[in-house]
Amino acid sequence: MAFTSKIIFGIVLAFTALAYFFRFKKEIPNFWVSFFIFFTFGVVLSLIGFILFDIKPVFAYVFPLPAFILIFNYLADFRTAIIAAFIIPLIYGGVFLGNFEIAFTHFISTLLVNFLIYQRKDFTVYLLGSLLAGGVNFAVLFALDFNFRSLPRILGLLLSSGIYSLAFLLISGLLLMFFKNYIKQVSFLELLNLADLNHHLLRRLLQKTPGTYYHSLLVADLSEQAAKAVEADSLLARVGAYFHDIGKLKNPEYYTENQKKKDIYKGMNPKKAAAIVIAHVKEGVEIARKYQLPKAIIQIIAEHHGRTITPLFFTQAARQKLKMKLGDFRYPGPQPQSKESAIVMLADSVEAASRSLKKLDDANIRKLIDKIIKDKFYQGELEDSSLTSKDLSKIQKAFFRVLKGAFHRRISY
Ligand SMILES: [Fe+2]
Ligand SMILES: [Fe+2]
Repeated sequence: MAFTSKIIFGIVLAFTALAYFFRFKKEIPNFWVSFFIFFTFGVVLSLIGFILFDIKPVFAYVFPLPAFILIFNYLADFRTAIIAAFIIPLIYGGVFLGNFEIAFTHFISTLLVNFLIYQRKDFTVYLLGSLLAGGVNFAVLFALDFNFRSLPRILGLLLSSGIYSLAFLLISGLLLMFFKNYIKQVSFLELLNLADLNHHLLRRLLQKTPGTYYHSLLVADLSEQAAKAVEADSLLARVGAYFHDIGKLKNPEYYTENQKKKDIYKGMNPKKAAAIVIAHVKEGVEIARKYQLPKAIIQIIAEHHGRTITPLFFTQAARQKLKMKLGDFRYPGPQPQSKESAIVMLADSVEAASRSLKKLDDANIRKLIDKIIKDKFYQGELEDSSLTSKDLSKIQKAFFRVLKGAFHRRISY
C-alpha cells in the first residue's frame, strides 16, 4: 500500500474513532481515560507491531493485540470495546503494516473474546478468553499458511499460539491491575455470593430493623427489573439494593419504616434530626468497608441519596424560622455515577413514597413513579449516571409492573 494511501486510511480511521467518542460522550464510562488510551494504544501498539513485523512478519501476527483491547470492556463498556476491536487492528495491520490479513486476524480474535467476556468478569471466563484468542490465532495462521502444511510447521504454529495465549493472560492481567481504580465492576461470583439473603449483615438487618429489611427487598425487586429493562447489571442493582440502607443498623428507631412510636422527632431540632437521618449513608459506607463488601456495592450505598435534601426537616426548620444553611439538610453525595446506582436511588424513593399511597389504582401508581423520576431528573441527580430519557421511560414501566405486583399481594392476602 502506498504511503499516501496509508495516511488517508489512517485519517479516516481516526475520524471514525473521534466520531464515535464524541457522539456517545455522555454514555461512555471513564470517557477521558478511555479516549486517551484508545488513541495511545492505536499508535504505540502499532509501532510495536511495525518493529516486530520488521524483525519477522509472523511476530506481528502473534503479538497479543486483543489483550490490550480487552481493557475497554472493563474501563468503558462493551460498545467501546467492539469499536476498539474494529479500529485498533485496522490501524495496526492496515495503516502501519499495510497488511489486512494481520488486521483481520486480530480483529476476529478481539471480537470473539469481547463477546465471551461481555458482562461476565470472573477469572474462568477470562482464562477461556485467552484460550479462545490463542485458538483463533492458530486457526487463522493455519488457514493463511495452508499451502505449506507440514508437521513441524503446524507444531510451530501451535507453540506460537500457546505463547500468544499466555501473553494474552499476562498482559490483560497486568492492565486490569494497572487500571484497577477505574474499574467499578465486581465479579459475577462475588455478587452471587452476596445475593444470598443469609449474609450476616442482612440477617442483622432483618432482626434489628425489619422495616428497613422488607423495604430493601422491594427496592431490590424494583432495581433488578429496572436494570434488566435498560440492560444494566441487574445482579449488581439487586445486591446493591439489599445493602443500600445497612447504615440504619446504627439507630434503627429513627427511620420511619422501623418506628413504633410516631413522634420520635417531636421537639427535636430539625437540624439535628436531619443530621441523624443523613448519617445513615456514612454509617452504611463504614459498615460495608468493615465487612469488605465490593467497591461497586459501597458506591451504591454512598450514592443512593445523591445530593438530595431531606424535605421534611427542611420544611420544619423553615416553618420554625430557624437559622440554617441548605447544606445542613443535604446528603453528602456523590450523585449516582452509574446506571445501577441511579436505579437504586429511584427505586428507593419510589418504594418509600408508595407506602403513603392511599388509593392503589393504576393511575395513582403511575403518577407517583412519574413524579419521583421527574423530581430526581430535574434536581440534576441523574446527570452523571449515563441514563438516557429513553432508559427512564423503560425504568418507569418496570417499576410500575413490580409495584403493581407488590400491591396486589398486599391486597389479596
Ligand atoms: Fe437510605
Ligand atoms: Fe432506602
